[in-house]
Amino acid sequence: MRISVIGAGYVGLTTSAGLASLGHTVRVGEIDSDRVAKLRSGAVPIFEAGLEEMLSEAASSGLVSFHDSNLDAIDGAELIFLCLPTPEGDGGRADLSFVEGVVDELAAPAGDAIFVIKSTVPPGTAAELQKRIADLGGAGRVVAHPEFLREGRAVADFLHPDRIVVGAVDPEDASTVASLYDPIDTEFVLTDPTSAEMIKYASNAYLATRLTMANTLANVCEAVGADIRDVLTGVKLDHRIGPYFLEPGPGYGGSCFPKDTAALIGVAADAGYDFQLLRAVIEADEEQRRRIVDKVRDAAGGSLESKVVALWGLAFKAGTDDVRESPAVRIGRLIRDAGAKVVVYDPEARSPDFETAESALSAVSGADVLLIATEWPEFAAVDPAEIARVMRGTGVVDARNILDPSRVREAGLDYLGLGRRLPAT
Ligand code: UGA
Repeated sequence: MRISVIGAGYVGLTTSAGLASLGHTVRVGEIDSDRVAKLRSGAVPIFEAGLEEMLSEAASSGLVSFHDSNLDAIDGAELIFLCLPTPEGDGGRADLSFVEGVVDELAAPAGDAIFVIKSTVPPGTAAELQKRIADLGGAGRVVAHPEFLREGRAVADFLHPDRIVVGAVDPEDASTVASLYDPIDTEFVLTDPTSAEMIKYASNAYLATRLTMANTLANVCEAVGADIRDVLTGVKLDHRIGPYFLEPGPGYGGSCFPKDTAALIGVAADAGYDFQLLRAVIEADEEQRRRIVDKVRDAAGGSLESKVVALWGLAFKAGTDDVRESPAVRIGRLIRDAGAKVVVYDPEARSPDFETAESALSAVSGADVLLIATEWPEFAAVDPAEIARVMRGTGVVDARNILDPSRVREAGLDYLGLGRRLPAT
Protein backbone atom coordinates (compact mmCIF):
# COMPACT_ATOMS: atom_id res chain seq x y z
CA MET A 1 0.00 0.00 0.00
CA ARG A 2 1.02 3.67 -0.25
CA ILE A 3 1.85 4.95 3.22
CA SER A 4 3.01 8.25 4.57
CA VAL A 5 4.84 8.33 7.90
CA ILE A 6 4.98 11.71 9.64
CA GLY A 7 7.89 12.00 12.09
CA ALA A 8 11.37 10.52 11.60
CA GLY A 9 12.19 9.64 15.21
CA TYR A 10 12.95 6.09 16.31
CA VAL A 11 9.31 5.00 16.04
CA GLY A 12 8.79 6.70 12.66
CA LEU A 13 12.02 5.43 11.12
CA THR A 14 11.62 1.89 12.42
CA THR A 15 8.01 1.80 11.27
CA SER A 16 8.99 3.18 7.84
CA ALA A 17 11.81 0.71 7.34
CA GLY A 18 9.64 -2.14 8.62
CA LEU A 19 6.65 -1.32 6.41
CA ALA A 20 8.96 -1.04 3.39
CA SER A 21 10.46 -4.43 4.24
CA LEU A 22 6.91 -5.81 3.97
CA GLY A 23 6.67 -4.36 0.45
CA HIS A 24 4.81 -1.09 1.08
CA THR A 25 5.80 2.28 -0.38
CA VAL A 26 6.62 4.78 2.36
CA ARG A 27 7.03 8.55 2.10
CA VAL A 28 8.45 9.97 5.33
CA GLY A 29 7.64 13.57 6.34
CA GLU A 30 9.93 15.32 8.83
CA ILE A 31 10.07 19.07 9.62
CA ASP A 32 13.78 19.03 10.52
CA SER A 33 15.34 19.55 7.08
CA ASP A 34 18.87 18.71 8.35
CA ARG A 35 17.55 15.34 9.45
CA VAL A 36 15.93 14.84 6.06
CA ALA A 37 19.20 15.72 4.29
CA LYS A 38 21.08 13.22 6.46
CA LEU A 39 18.53 10.49 5.83
CA ARG A 40 18.67 11.12 2.08
CA SER A 41 22.45 10.71 2.19
CA GLY A 42 21.99 7.32 3.87
CA ALA A 43 22.91 8.40 7.43
CA VAL A 44 20.63 7.39 10.30
CA PRO A 45 20.50 10.07 13.02
CA ILE A 46 19.76 7.65 15.88
CA PHE A 47 21.52 4.60 17.31
CA GLU A 48 19.14 1.66 16.81
CA ALA A 49 20.42 -1.86 16.15
CA GLY A 50 19.77 -3.01 12.56
CA LEU A 51 17.92 0.15 11.52
CA GLU A 52 20.59 1.56 9.23
CA GLU A 53 20.80 -1.69 7.22
CA MET A 54 17.02 -1.99 6.98
CA LEU A 55 16.58 1.64 5.90
CA SER A 56 19.35 1.51 3.31
CA GLU A 57 17.83 -1.66 1.82
CA ALA A 58 14.45 0.09 1.65
CA ALA A 59 15.98 3.24 0.13
CA SER A 60 17.91 1.30 -2.51
CA SER A 61 14.78 -0.60 -3.53
CA GLY A 62 13.08 2.80 -3.94
CA LEU A 63 10.38 2.01 -1.38
CA VAL A 64 11.28 4.78 1.09
CA SER A 65 11.73 8.50 0.42
CA PHE A 66 12.25 11.45 2.78
CA HIS A 67 10.49 14.85 2.57
CA ASP A 68 10.78 18.03 4.59
CA SER A 69 7.21 18.96 3.69
CA ASN A 70 4.35 16.93 5.15
CA LEU A 71 2.22 17.84 2.15
CA ASP A 72 4.79 16.23 -0.16
CA ALA A 73 4.96 13.24 2.15
CA ILE A 74 1.22 12.52 1.96
CA ASP A 75 1.09 12.70 -1.84
CA GLY A 76 -0.93 9.66 -2.93
CA ALA A 77 -1.05 8.16 0.58
CA GLU A 78 -3.85 5.75 1.50
CA LEU A 79 -2.68 5.69 5.12
CA ILE A 80 -0.96 8.45 7.11
CA PHE A 81 0.96 7.16 10.15
CA LEU A 82 1.50 9.80 12.83
CA CYS A 83 4.73 9.02 14.71
CA LEU A 84 5.05 12.29 16.60
CA PRO A 85 6.22 13.06 20.12
CA THR A 86 3.63 13.41 22.90
CA PRO A 87 5.82 14.82 25.68
CA GLU A 88 4.78 15.34 29.28
CA GLY A 89 2.73 18.53 29.49
CA ASP A 90 0.99 20.43 32.29
CA GLY A 91 0.29 18.38 35.42
CA GLY A 92 1.83 15.24 33.85
CA ARG A 93 -0.79 15.16 31.08
CA ALA A 94 0.33 14.31 27.54
CA ASP A 95 1.04 17.36 25.38
CA LEU A 96 -0.76 16.66 22.10
CA SER A 97 0.25 19.85 20.30
CA PHE A 98 2.51 18.10 17.73
CA VAL A 99 -0.18 15.58 16.80
CA GLU A 100 -2.91 18.23 16.67
CA GLY A 101 -0.72 20.57 14.62
CA VAL A 102 -0.11 17.92 11.96
CA VAL A 103 -3.76 16.85 11.91
CA ASP A 104 -4.76 20.50 11.38
CA GLU A 105 -2.25 20.80 8.54
CA LEU A 106 -3.25 17.58 6.80
CA ALA A 107 -6.98 17.14 7.54
CA ALA A 108 -8.19 18.77 4.32
CA PRO A 109 -5.39 17.83 1.88
CA ALA A 110 -5.38 14.19 3.05
CA GLY A 111 -8.76 13.54 1.39
CA ASP A 112 -10.16 10.24 2.64
CA ALA A 113 -6.83 8.76 3.72
CA ILE A 114 -6.83 6.94 7.06
CA PHE A 115 -4.93 8.68 9.88
CA VAL A 116 -3.14 5.99 11.88
CA ILE A 117 -2.07 7.17 15.34
CA LYS A 118 1.18 5.46 16.38
CA SER A 119 2.08 8.06 19.00
CA THR A 120 1.18 7.24 22.59
CA VAL A 121 -1.96 9.28 23.21
CA PRO A 122 -4.50 9.31 26.06
CA PRO A 123 -7.64 7.19 25.68
CA GLY A 124 -10.22 9.21 23.78
CA THR A 125 -7.71 11.06 21.61
CA ALA A 126 -8.53 9.25 18.34
CA ALA A 127 -12.20 10.12 18.83
CA GLU A 128 -11.32 13.77 19.44
CA LEU A 129 -9.03 13.89 16.41
CA GLN A 130 -11.82 12.38 14.35
CA LYS A 131 -14.08 15.31 15.30
CA ARG A 132 -11.26 17.77 14.62
CA ILE A 133 -10.76 16.43 11.10
CA ALA A 134 -14.48 16.61 10.37
CA ASP A 135 -14.64 20.20 11.71
CA LEU A 136 -11.82 21.11 9.32
CA GLY A 137 -13.80 19.68 6.41
CA GLY A 138 -11.66 16.52 6.08
CA ALA A 139 -13.00 13.09 5.15
CA GLY A 140 -10.26 11.00 6.79
CA ARG A 141 -10.95 8.40 9.50
CA VAL A 142 -8.75 7.94 12.55
CA VAL A 143 -7.39 4.57 13.67
CA ALA A 144 -5.51 4.02 16.94
CA HIS A 145 -2.58 1.69 16.35
CA PRO A 146 -0.13 1.92 19.27
CA GLU A 147 3.48 0.83 18.96
CA PHE A 148 5.26 -1.52 21.34
CA LEU A 149 8.83 -1.00 20.18
CA ARG A 150 11.63 -1.08 22.73
CA GLU A 151 14.56 1.22 22.09
CA GLY A 152 17.57 -0.84 21.10
CA ARG A 153 15.33 -3.68 19.90
CA ALA A 154 12.88 -1.72 17.80
CA VAL A 155 13.65 -3.49 14.50
CA ALA A 156 13.28 -6.95 16.03
CA ASP A 157 10.10 -5.86 17.84
CA PHE A 158 8.63 -4.59 14.56
CA LEU A 159 9.35 -7.83 12.71
CA HIS A 160 8.44 -10.19 15.58
CA PRO A 161 5.79 -8.39 17.64
CA ASP A 162 4.00 -10.04 20.58
CA ARG A 163 0.79 -8.53 19.21
CA ILE A 164 -0.55 -5.94 16.82
CA VAL A 165 -3.30 -3.70 18.20
CA VAL A 166 -5.70 -1.83 15.94
CA GLY A 167 -8.55 0.32 17.27
CA ALA A 168 -11.07 1.51 14.70
CA VAL A 169 -14.71 2.53 14.59
CA ASP A 170 -15.17 0.96 11.13
CA PRO A 171 -14.16 -2.73 10.96
CA GLU A 172 -13.07 -2.21 7.36
CA ASP A 173 -10.49 0.37 8.45
CA ALA A 174 -9.28 -2.07 11.09
CA SER A 175 -8.76 -4.81 8.50
CA THR A 176 -7.01 -2.38 6.11
CA VAL A 177 -4.46 -1.54 8.81
CA ALA A 178 -4.14 -5.14 10.00
CA SER A 179 -3.60 -6.36 6.42
CA LEU A 180 -0.40 -4.30 6.20
CA TYR A 181 1.19 -6.96 8.39
CA ASP A 182 -0.03 -10.02 6.47
CA PRO A 183 3.44 -11.61 6.28
CA ILE A 184 3.89 -11.35 10.06
CA ASP A 185 2.76 -14.25 12.19
CA THR A 186 1.37 -12.82 15.43
CA GLU A 187 -1.78 -12.18 17.47
CA PHE A 188 -4.05 -9.34 16.32
CA VAL A 189 -6.22 -7.41 18.75
CA LEU A 190 -8.93 -5.51 16.89
CA THR A 191 -10.96 -3.21 19.09
CA ASP A 192 -12.37 0.31 19.42
CA PRO A 193 -9.93 3.27 19.37
CA THR A 194 -10.21 4.13 23.09
CA SER A 195 -9.49 0.54 24.17
CA ALA A 196 -6.51 0.39 21.79
CA GLU A 197 -5.12 3.59 23.31
CA MET A 198 -5.71 2.15 26.76
CA ILE A 199 -3.84 -1.08 25.89
CA LYS A 200 -0.69 0.97 25.35
CA TYR A 201 -0.96 2.87 28.65
CA ALA A 202 -1.97 -0.26 30.52
CA SER A 203 1.04 -2.19 29.18
CA ASN A 204 3.55 0.50 30.12
CA ALA A 205 1.93 1.09 33.51
CA TYR A 206 1.98 -2.64 34.24
CA LEU A 207 5.63 -3.01 33.19
CA ALA A 208 6.65 0.01 35.29
CA THR A 209 4.76 -1.47 38.26
CA ARG A 210 6.35 -4.87 37.75
CA LEU A 211 9.94 -3.62 37.72
CA THR A 212 9.17 -1.35 40.68
CA MET A 213 7.95 -4.47 42.47
CA ALA A 214 11.38 -6.03 41.83
CA ASN A 215 13.09 -2.89 43.16
CA THR A 216 10.99 -2.72 46.29
CA LEU A 217 11.35 -6.47 46.92
CA ALA A 218 15.13 -5.98 46.72
CA ASN A 219 14.81 -3.31 49.40
CA VAL A 220 12.84 -5.69 51.64
CA CYS A 221 15.42 -8.44 51.00
CA GLU A 222 18.11 -6.06 52.21
CA ALA A 223 16.12 -5.36 55.36
CA VAL A 224 15.42 -9.01 56.23
CA GLY A 225 18.70 -10.55 55.04
CA ALA A 226 17.34 -12.45 52.02
CA ASP A 227 18.96 -12.53 48.58
CA ILE A 228 16.89 -10.95 45.80
CA ARG A 229 18.48 -13.08 43.09
CA ASP A 230 17.42 -16.31 44.76
CA VAL A 231 14.05 -14.81 45.67
CA LEU A 232 13.33 -13.77 42.08
CA THR A 233 14.55 -17.10 40.73
CA GLY A 234 11.90 -18.72 42.91
CA VAL A 235 9.23 -16.16 42.01
CA LYS A 236 9.85 -16.24 38.25
CA LEU A 237 9.29 -20.00 38.09
CA ASP A 238 5.61 -19.43 38.76
CA HIS A 239 4.11 -19.53 35.26
CA ARG A 240 1.60 -16.87 36.17
CA ILE A 241 4.48 -14.49 36.89
CA GLY A 242 7.11 -15.50 34.32
CA PRO A 243 10.77 -14.53 33.98
CA TYR A 244 10.75 -11.18 32.22
CA PHE A 245 11.07 -7.59 33.35
CA LEU A 246 11.85 -8.27 36.97
CA GLU A 247 15.43 -7.05 37.29
CA PRO A 248 16.11 -4.63 40.15
CA GLY A 249 17.81 -1.43 39.10
CA PRO A 250 18.03 2.31 39.70
CA GLY A 251 14.41 2.91 38.68
CA TYR A 252 12.93 3.34 35.26
CA GLY A 253 13.83 5.97 32.68
CA GLY A 254 13.58 6.64 28.98
CA SER A 255 11.09 8.52 26.90
CA CYS A 256 8.08 6.33 27.74
CA PHE A 257 7.52 4.98 31.25
CA PRO A 258 7.99 8.25 33.20
CA LYS A 259 5.67 10.23 30.93
CA ASP A 260 3.13 7.45 30.33
CA THR A 261 2.68 6.62 34.03
CA ALA A 262 2.18 10.32 34.82
CA ALA A 263 -0.20 10.71 31.88
CA LEU A 264 -2.32 7.71 32.89
CA ILE A 265 -2.72 9.10 36.40
CA GLY A 266 -3.85 12.40 34.81
CA VAL A 267 -6.27 10.69 32.41
CA ALA A 268 -7.78 8.67 35.25
CA ALA A 269 -8.03 11.73 37.53
CA ASP A 270 -9.75 13.74 34.79
CA ALA A 271 -12.27 10.91 34.52
CA GLY A 272 -12.82 10.87 38.28
CA TYR A 273 -10.61 7.92 39.28
CA ASP A 274 -7.70 8.21 41.70
CA PHE A 275 -5.06 5.74 40.42
CA GLN A 276 -3.52 5.23 43.86
CA LEU A 277 -1.49 2.17 42.87
CA LEU A 278 0.31 3.96 40.05
CA ARG A 279 0.93 7.01 42.24
CA ALA A 280 2.65 4.71 44.72
CA VAL A 281 4.76 3.22 41.90
CA ILE A 282 6.03 6.66 40.87
CA GLU A 283 6.83 7.50 44.49
CA ALA A 284 8.71 4.21 45.01
CA ASP A 285 10.59 4.79 41.76
CA GLU A 286 11.75 8.25 42.94
CA GLU A 287 12.78 6.76 46.28
CA GLN A 288 14.87 4.13 44.52
CA ARG A 289 17.21 6.81 43.16
CA ARG A 290 17.52 8.46 46.57
CA ARG A 291 18.37 5.07 48.11
CA ILE A 292 21.16 4.59 45.61
CA VAL A 293 22.59 8.03 46.40
CA ASP A 294 22.51 6.99 50.09
CA LYS A 295 24.43 3.82 49.25
CA VAL A 296 27.07 5.87 47.41
CA ARG A 297 27.29 8.23 50.39
CA ASP A 298 27.73 5.27 52.77
CA ALA A 299 30.37 3.80 50.48
CA ALA A 300 32.18 7.18 50.55
CA GLY A 301 32.33 7.05 54.36
CA GLY A 302 29.24 9.10 55.24
CA SER A 303 29.72 12.27 53.17
CA LEU A 304 30.06 13.03 49.46
CA GLU A 305 31.72 16.40 50.03
CA SER A 306 34.93 16.60 47.92
CA LYS A 307 34.76 12.91 47.02
CA VAL A 308 35.32 11.54 43.51
CA VAL A 309 32.63 9.19 42.21
CA ALA A 310 33.14 7.18 39.02
CA LEU A 311 29.80 6.68 37.26
CA TRP A 312 29.64 3.76 34.85
CA GLY A 313 26.67 4.28 32.56
CA LEU A 314 24.63 7.25 31.41
CA ALA A 315 22.10 5.63 29.05
CA PHE A 316 18.72 4.82 30.61
CA LYS A 317 19.36 1.17 29.76
CA ALA A 318 22.02 -0.81 27.89
CA GLY A 319 21.83 -0.96 24.09
CA THR A 320 20.93 2.69 23.54
CA ASP A 321 22.63 6.11 23.63
CA ASP A 322 19.43 7.68 24.97
CA VAL A 323 19.77 9.65 28.21
CA ARG A 324 16.22 10.98 28.40
CA GLU A 325 14.97 10.65 32.00
CA SER A 326 17.93 8.37 32.59
CA PRO A 327 18.23 7.26 36.22
CA ALA A 328 22.02 7.26 35.75
CA VAL A 329 22.04 10.96 34.87
CA ARG A 330 19.56 11.85 37.60
CA ILE A 331 21.56 9.99 40.25
CA GLY A 332 24.81 11.51 38.92
CA ARG A 333 23.35 15.00 39.36
CA LEU A 334 22.19 14.25 42.91
CA ILE A 335 25.68 13.00 43.78
CA ARG A 336 27.28 16.07 42.25
CA ASP A 337 24.84 18.35 44.08
CA ALA A 338 25.91 16.66 47.33
CA GLY A 339 29.46 17.95 46.75
CA ALA A 340 31.20 15.13 44.88
CA LYS A 341 33.04 15.26 41.58
CA VAL A 342 31.46 12.78 39.13
CA VAL A 343 33.51 11.24 36.31
CA VAL A 344 31.46 9.22 33.83
CA TYR A 345 32.04 6.55 31.24
CA ASP A 346 29.40 5.12 28.90
CA PRO A 347 30.18 3.20 25.70
CA GLU A 348 27.50 5.07 23.70
CA ALA A 349 25.78 7.85 25.64
CA ARG A 350 27.08 11.35 26.41
CA SER A 351 25.97 14.09 28.80
CA PRO A 352 27.38 17.62 29.01
CA ASP A 353 26.71 17.56 32.77
CA PHE A 354 29.76 15.51 33.72
CA GLU A 355 33.47 15.09 33.09
CA THR A 356 33.79 12.15 30.69
CA ALA A 357 36.49 9.47 30.68
CA GLU A 358 37.62 7.48 27.64
CA SER A 359 37.30 4.06 29.25
CA ALA A 360 35.72 2.34 32.20
CA LEU A 361 39.06 2.00 33.95
CA SER A 362 40.16 5.59 33.38
CA ALA A 363 36.85 6.78 34.89
CA VAL A 364 37.57 4.82 38.03
CA SER A 365 41.17 5.97 38.33
CA GLY A 366 41.56 7.93 41.59
CA ALA A 367 37.85 7.53 42.48
CA ASP A 368 36.60 7.02 46.01
CA VAL A 369 33.49 5.14 44.91
CA LEU A 370 32.42 3.36 41.74
CA LEU A 371 28.69 3.41 40.89
CA ILE A 372 27.32 1.19 38.12
CA ALA A 373 24.05 2.65 36.83
CA THR A 374 23.59 1.08 33.36
CA GLU A 375 23.85 -2.65 32.68
CA TRP A 376 26.34 -2.56 29.76
CA PRO A 377 27.92 -6.05 29.49
CA GLU A 378 31.42 -4.54 29.20
CA PHE A 379 31.17 -3.35 32.81
CA ALA A 380 30.74 -6.90 34.10
CA ALA A 381 33.80 -7.95 32.07
CA VAL A 382 36.22 -5.55 33.84
CA ASP A 383 38.52 -7.40 36.24
CA PRO A 384 37.78 -6.18 39.81
CA ALA A 385 41.51 -6.47 40.59
CA GLU A 386 42.16 -3.81 37.92
CA ILE A 387 39.49 -1.59 39.49
CA ALA A 388 41.09 -2.00 42.93
CA ARG A 389 44.53 -1.17 41.48
CA VAL A 390 43.47 2.25 40.13
CA MET A 391 40.83 3.35 42.65
CA ARG A 392 41.63 5.59 45.61
CA GLY A 393 38.79 4.26 47.76
CA THR A 394 37.19 0.82 48.02
CA GLY A 395 33.44 1.38 47.58
CA VAL A 396 31.61 -0.28 44.70
CA VAL A 397 27.86 0.33 44.38
CA ASP A 398 26.35 -1.99 41.79
CA ALA A 399 22.89 -0.53 41.05
CA ARG A 400 22.29 -3.17 38.33
CA ASN A 401 23.49 -6.25 40.22
CA ILE A 402 25.80 -7.19 37.33
CA LEU A 403 29.03 -7.87 39.24
CA ASP A 404 29.98 -10.99 41.16
CA PRO A 405 30.18 -9.79 44.80
CA SER A 406 32.71 -12.51 45.75
CA ARG A 407 35.18 -11.45 43.06
CA VAL A 408 34.77 -7.78 43.99
CA ARG A 409 35.48 -8.59 47.62
CA GLU A 410 38.42 -10.84 46.79
CA ALA A 411 39.95 -7.83 45.03
CA GLY A 412 39.82 -5.96 48.35
CA LEU A 413 36.83 -3.79 47.46
CA ASP A 414 33.57 -3.27 49.37
CA TYR A 415 30.51 -4.40 47.43
CA LEU A 416 27.02 -2.91 47.77
CA GLY A 417 24.38 -4.24 45.39
CA LEU A 418 20.60 -4.18 45.50
CA GLY A 419 19.11 -6.70 47.90
CA ARG A 420 22.01 -9.13 47.66
CA ARG A 421 23.15 -11.30 50.56
CA LEU A 422 26.90 -10.93 50.73
CA PRO A 423 29.26 -13.88 51.08
CA ALA A 424 30.94 -14.14 54.48
CA THR A 425 34.39 -12.52 54.54
C1 UGA B 1 9.18 0.71 26.77
C2 UGA B 1 8.35 -0.57 26.59
O1 UGA B 1 9.10 -1.70 27.04
C3 UGA B 1 7.98 -0.77 25.11
O2 UGA B 1 7.15 -1.91 25.00
C4 UGA B 1 7.22 0.47 24.65
O3 UGA B 1 6.87 0.38 23.30
C5 UGA B 1 8.08 1.69 24.85
O4 UGA B 1 8.43 1.80 26.25
C6 UGA B 1 7.27 2.88 24.42
O5 UGA B 1 6.28 3.20 25.11
O6 UGA B 1 7.51 3.40 23.33
P1 UGA B 1 11.74 1.38 26.40
O7 UGA B 1 11.40 2.74 26.95
O8 UGA B 1 12.59 1.28 25.19
O9 UGA B 1 10.40 0.56 26.07
O10 UGA B 1 12.50 0.67 27.58
P2 UGA B 1 12.38 -0.69 28.42
O11 UGA B 1 13.27 -1.70 27.85
O12 UGA B 1 10.98 -1.04 28.65
O13 UGA B 1 13.01 -0.18 29.81
C7 UGA B 1 12.40 0.90 30.55
C8 UGA B 1 13.15 1.15 31.85
O14 UGA B 1 12.93 0.09 32.77
C9 UGA B 1 14.66 1.25 31.69
O15 UGA B 1 15.12 2.33 32.49
C10 UGA B 1 15.17 -0.09 32.20
O16 UGA B 1 16.48 -0.05 32.69
C11 UGA B 1 14.16 -0.36 33.30
N1 UGA B 1 14.04 -1.80 33.63
C12 UGA B 1 13.48 -2.64 32.74
C13 UGA B 1 14.45 -2.26 34.88
O17 UGA B 1 14.97 -1.49 35.73
N2 UGA B 1 14.26 -3.59 35.17
C14 UGA B 1 13.71 -4.45 34.31
O18 UGA B 1 13.56 -5.66 34.65
C15 UGA B 1 13.31 -3.98 33.05
